[in-house]
Parts: sequence; structure tokens; C-alpha cells
Amino acid sequence: MGFAHEYATAIVRRGRYPMEPADFVPDWADRPRKGKHFPGAESFPLPRDEAPPEATVQRGLFGPRGTGAFTLPLLSGMLQESYGLVGRRLAVQANSDLGTLPMYTQANWSRGTASGGGLYPIGVHWVSGPSGPLTPGVYYYSTPHHRMRRLLAGDATAEVRAALGGELGADCDQFLVLGVRFWQNAFKYNSFSYHVVTMDIGALLQTWRIWARARGLHIGPALWFDEARLGRLLGLDQDEEGVFAVVPLTWEGAPSARPAPVEASFAPRVHHADQERSRTTMTFETVRRMHAATLDGAADRPPAGALDTALALPVPAGGERTALPAPRPLDVAVGTALRSRRSSFGRFQAVTPLPAEALSTVLAAVDTAGTLDSDTETPGAGPLSRSYVFVNHVAGIAQGSYLYDPADRSLRLVKAGAPGEFLQRNYFLANYNLEQAAAVIVPVARTTAVLDAVGDRGYRLVNAVIGAASQAVYTASAAAGLSCGVALGFDAISFTEELALEETGEVPLLIMMIGHERPRPADFRYEIA
Ligand SMILES: Cc1cc2nc3c(=O)[nH]c(=O)nc-3n(C[C@H](O)[C@H](O)[C@H](O)COP(=O)(O)O)c2cc1C
Repeated sequence: MGFAHEYATAIVRRGRYPMEPADFVPDWADRPRKGKHFPGAESFPLPRDEAPPEATVQRGLFGPRGTGAFTLPLLSGMLQESYGLVGRRLAVQANSDLGTLPMYTQANWSRGTASGGGLYPIGVHWVSGPSGPLTPGVYYYSTPHHRMRRLLAGDATAEVRAALGGELGADCDQFLVLGVRFWQNAFKYNSFSYHVVTMDIGALLQTWRIWARARGLHIGPALWFDEARLGRLLGLDQDEEGVFAVVPLTWEGAPSARPAPVEASFAPRVHHADQERSRTTMTFETVRRMHAATLDGAADRPPAGALDTALALPVPAGGERTALPAPRPLDVAVGTALRSRRSSFGRFQAVTPLPAEALSTVLAAVDTAGTLDSDTETPGAGPLSRSYVFVNHVAGIAQGSYLYDPADRSLRLVKAGAPGEFLQRNYFLANYNLEQAAAVIVPVARTTAVLDAVGDRGYRLVNAVIGAASQAVYTASAAAGLSCGVALGFDAISFTEELALEETGEVPLLIMMIGHERPRPADFRYEIA
């Protein structure tokens, strides 16, 4: 049994038994940047993207799989609306950073994708070959400037294809490669950070999946590859940074013939080094061990069907069920929804119950994120996650906890009765009143079964699916005019007991709140892109 089992157990218990170093206090004055800084690297502006009216959230979530090809404006639009800075948060909310938000040096810039703690630790690299519009090379997406920084000139795509191994991406010469420098999250969350950043990866991939599908494109990420080889290409320090996903992009005008394999006499490698802002950086033993565990067998992609024993369990037939109404169509442009997406942070107010149709809409969106179209999942196989729902204030649905069954769009009763007191007692931050959320959705996965099926690297897949669920909630809620938020700060042992999850081997991995907010909130509009 690998270290990921141990880590998964420690995460579930952390609400009662803090993870080491329990007395850790972040040094906020010496925090790292949210992104890498390459002062010497040449940068290139990105063009504007014009979205057609049919690029709606409805199509992004529920439309057909895309068959189109990326262009530079499309790549630019997808990056800007997912991870680029698009606005500044200045509204009054219940987080402890409220007082500092008006100071420019502490400005909190918003993005289309949510991120644990708002730390945004993912570095997006574009490895572009001869079909691309720029000189072939390795580019880093600079989120504050919405520009590409060239870290290496020359076609390095053969390295990516070799790292992917075999068929996947074999006919592509454009790739997005997602890396995380752990310090960018661990300076705050220390040992917990591996759990958070792996969900962040899923959240970003889900934004891309929605965005791309709405534009007739496809995102199929690889999570298994020769990570050491890619780390070498990108000039990463293998102990302190990881490569978590590779996304091959079908590019307009790329020759359909496969690029000839390049026999590189030397391996290309980025030499530009990130200029770290923190004067003192630290590594954490648990993060180092977890990273090492997920690197084991990284290039040995599990065969089709390997996850069959670890998929979400079917909802048992029968039981006391409440039918949900059909979801409402989400005819809002993806870009509009992503730009208006935000966390509620303590603003829920349940004076008016949520229409059941709104809950149904968000649950249908979550359902689309149960699979990621990733390299290890078998096309057409079931999802890796399913959802429980605590109903506080939804019109026509009795208060209680339920299991959502997407097959007939119903809620199967787990336990009757108002859950508000349970929810608030088991939330350990002060920024939300969970009782005032209309409903709290809890995505679960069979983490242990996944690790047994595909090894420790499966931890990344489980968490990516949960991160994707969170971004589906954010995007659908924004499109439906609802408020939402997600949180990791809950006692998972209590949730396991409350939902009787010991019997199913499921782990409650996130809480996702939806509802109405207090009317007429204090805010200040500050859009920058
Ligand atoms: C994986 C993940 C975990 C999160 N955990 C929490 C949490 O425990 N508590 C919380 O208030 N917000 C949590 N959030 C929300 C982030 O704090 C939020 O997305 C980020 O600060 C940016 O703010 P915005 O969503 O308003 O843009 C989480 C988000 C993600 C994606």
C-alpha cells in the first residue's frame, strides 16, 4: 500500500487531528507570487477572441463533443477567461482578508476559475510546434499580462510526444502542460497543499472543458506520462514542482500526417529560471512523500477498464424518492458566466427558498464533471464521483440529506430532518453560515478503490474530478443567477458518519453550497479585461 492511502486517511481526519506541522504559521509578508516571474524572457501579446452567440454554458456542459481545431484567438480566449486576471474583488464579504482588499499591494484579482485559498498555483505552458502561429518553442502564460513568455525557442514537441508515450497526442504538435510549484500553495497550507493543488488542476481543466465544448473543441487531458522527462524539459525542480496534466490540442491547419519522430541528439530544456519572491522557502516532508508516491509508475498508463472496480456505485433502486424538475437551460455565454463567477463567502440568505429547478440545474452540471475525458478513463464508462445533497431551503423538497440519482433525476432520502445545525457544527471556518445556503452538495469518490486500481497517481485523478465538480457548480450557478461557494474546511469524519459512507467506501471530498444572497450587496465594479 502506497503513501497516498496514508495521506488520504490523514486528510479525512484533519478536522479532528491536525496534520503536521500543526503549529505552522504562514509568513504572509514573505509570500510567493501567484505565478512565475521570468523577467528576462521575451513576451508576446495575445489576440482578442470573439465568441459566437451559440457558445453558451448549456452547450459547454451538455453539448456534443467538439471536433474543431484551435487557433491563436481561441487559445487566447480560453486562457484569459479561465486563468487570466479579469477583475478585482472589492465587495463586502465575510472573509478575514476584507480589510486589506482596498490596498493596491494586497489587491485580489479575480479569474474565471476558482482556486483553493485563491492562490492560483498552476503554471500553464504552451509547447508549440511548427503548426503554431509563433516560432516553435515553450511558452509560459503570464496571467497578469495575458501574454506568452517564450522560455525556449525551437520545436520541443517531440519531447512531449515521447513523454506521453504511444498513441495519445502522437499526431499533435501543440500541447498545454500544467505544472505546479508547491511553494505557491504550501506557504499557506503546508502538508494539506497536495490535496488542494490536485483539486485546482481539475477546476482549471473543467473550465477548459466547458469553454472548449461550447466552441466545438475538445479537451482530453493526460494525467499519466513520463513526468521526469517533462519536468526536465520545463526546467522544473522535481522535488518542488510537479507536472499534473498534458492537454494535446488539435490545431487549425496542422498536417493530418503524423510528425516524423525526431531523434533528438540532445534533450531540449528551458534555462530561464523563475525569480522567486519569497526570501525563505520551505519544503514539507508530507508533500515531498506524496509527490514521490504519485511519480511512481507515472509513465505506465493504466489500461482501459482499470478503473472499472473504482467507479461511483450505482444508486440503489427504490427508497423514498423526490423527483426533481427538469434543469433550466443555461443560455448565457461562457465568457459572461466565467467573468461573473465568484464565491459567496458568507452572503447566503435563505429568506426565499431556492426553486427546485435551480437545484436540479446545478446537479445536472455536477454530473457532467464525474468524468474528465482523461487518458485513464474508459470512454463510455461510468463516473468516478456521485453527489449527496443536504437540503436546507429548497421549495417543495423536505429538509434532509439525499443521494442524487441522475438516471431518473431524483433525490433518494438518506436522512430526514433539518441539516443546518449539523452542517454549521462541522464547518470549521467562520466565513459561511451553511444553514443559510439553500442546499449543500457533497461530491464523493471511492478514493481507496481508485488507489488500489491504478496506484498512488490515482489520487490526482480523484481530486481532479472533484475540482472539476466545483468548477461546474461555479459556472452553472453564475449562468443561472445563483450564488455558490465551495469549501474543504469541514469535518469529513462527521460527514462520513452522517451519510453512512463507511458502508460504501466513499469519501466526502468537498462541500459545495448554493443558494440566494442578501439583497443589495455592497460592491465596487472593477473589471480589467
Ligand atoms: C478546491 C477548492 C477548495 C476550496 N476551499 C475553500 C474553503 O475551504 N473555504 C472557502 O471559503 N473557499 C474555498 N474555496 C473557494 C476559493 O477560496 C475561491 O475560489 C478563491 O478564493 C477565489 O475567490 P472567488 O471564487 O470569489 O473568485 C475553494 C476553492 C477550490 C477550487
